[in-house]
Amino acid sequence: MASIDLAGLQDQARRVLQANRVTAARGRYTRPAPHTYPHQWLWDSCFHARVYLLLGDDQYARDELRALFREQVQSGVDAGRLPHMTFLGADEADLSQDPEAKAAYARDAALFASPRASNITQPPIVAETVYLIKDATFWRELWEPLCRYYDWWMRRRNPRADHLYVQWHLWEGGADATPRGDEACARLLASGRRARALEWQTVNPTAKKRQDMLAARFLMLEDLQTVDAAEAQGELSEAEADRRRLALWGHIAIDMQAYLMANLNALAQIGAALGETESSRRYAAEARAIAEATNATLWDEEAGFYFDRFGDPARSARVMTHAPFIALYAGDIVPKERAERLLRHLLDPARFWTRWPVPTTARSEKAFDPDDYWRGSTWINVNWFAVNGLILAARRFDDERYLQPARVIARKTIELVNDLGFREFYRAGAPRSEDDAAAEPMGFGPRSFGWTGLVLDIARILDTELR
Ligand code: GLC
Repeated sequence: MASIDLAGLQDQARRVLQANRVTAARGRYTRPAPHTYPHQWLWDSCFHARVYLLLGDDQYARDELRALFREQVQSGVDAGRLPHMTFLGADEADLSQDPEAKAAYARDAALFASPRASNITQPPIVAETVYLIKDATFWRELWEPLCRYYDWWMRRRNPRADHLYVQWHLWEGGADATPRGDEACARLLASGRRARALEWQTVNPTAKKRQDMLAARFLMLEDLQTVDAAEAQGELSEAEADRRRLALWGHIAIDMQAYLMANLNALAQIGAALGETESSRRYAAEARAIAEATNATLWDEEAGFYFDRFGDPARSARVMTHAPFIALYAGDIVPKERAERLLRHLLDPARFWTRWPVPTTARSEKAFDPDDYWRGSTWINVNWFAVNGLILAARRFDDERYLQPARVIARKTIELVNDLGFREFYRAGAPRSEDDAAAEPMGFGPRSFGWTGLVLDIARILDTELR
């Protein structure tokens, strides 16, 4: 391990964000990484805004968030939705800013059959990020578009009216290749169809990805687009379209429930501060309903773990991933006894306590691969949620036992980024078939990856709340 150079990390974070920043025709934002990821991604930009705030670049943080709304859907059944990707390249002037934007733009506009943005969404962590900027004028500026986004979730993604929110596509959850989708993907592959768009995949040479699952995600997108189009043309009622989308995947995820709960609460706080009392109450009530529905439905007492559900009728996706640790960050969703059981899993070397935790799949799972994209590898945003979640648990239950693992995760995260640079993701260690001690630390994906800048917040937390 090289010695930790905090000032150096700060300089690097600033350089990475600056190199990735673009001025598109209708908004300034930061690409996750040049070349590989030229567009604006919804949750990446929320993390970027957080890092800008840490660096004292308040204006960039605001621009990053404002730009997210430039392709908010304005009309039709999905009015209010924020796209998961807003493309660079739809305006001629954008193209000069990234040498590969032209090809990437052509590929992605074709993939989504849409000129400006994708037609799915991503983890809705924008309200909590706006709430970080303590300025009522800025809150007022974004209040209505924000409400339209969360109202869209409440109107369109709660199809059974049971407060269990659904994602229609794996990409919406942010953990693109998570084995929580494997059963649905296997079913799609069993059809023997070939995805039309397979050659349109993102070029990410050092990221290990399972090609079969990638093909399944393209098939999932094709099928979703067919249903969406039929609904938009009035050939299918909303109820019938929902039935088909639920059967396609209809994924209820513990981490998505947590993001929604935390963000509806943040929106409720913003509303209260702006004197929007009725809306504020409505969002806070929905956040409570989400926590209740989550605990009533997703918890598995025998395993001591939350498992997602998918399909119609919904069934359990019994695979252990990092997702329940994200739930710890979202206010009071996880009760005390359940948090304790999660902690035990986290600290179990046969499951999550690998050389460089937190792996995105438990070692005990067949799908586990310590180097593979969201199937075991370690991601800095996940660790950021986990560290915050553990600290919150320590506070809520007045229990120090949550702090030591938070410290270990924080230190190892800082080491990884310090030694290997601002990569997209990292080796989790402990491959099942090899001697763990022989494993070298490794980073994968682009070398100038924006949200890895969250390491600065992790360092700040280590130095303050975990001291
Ligand atoms: C990949 C990740 C997703 C991220 C995007 C841009 O698709 O899985 O979470 O938002 O890249 O960085």
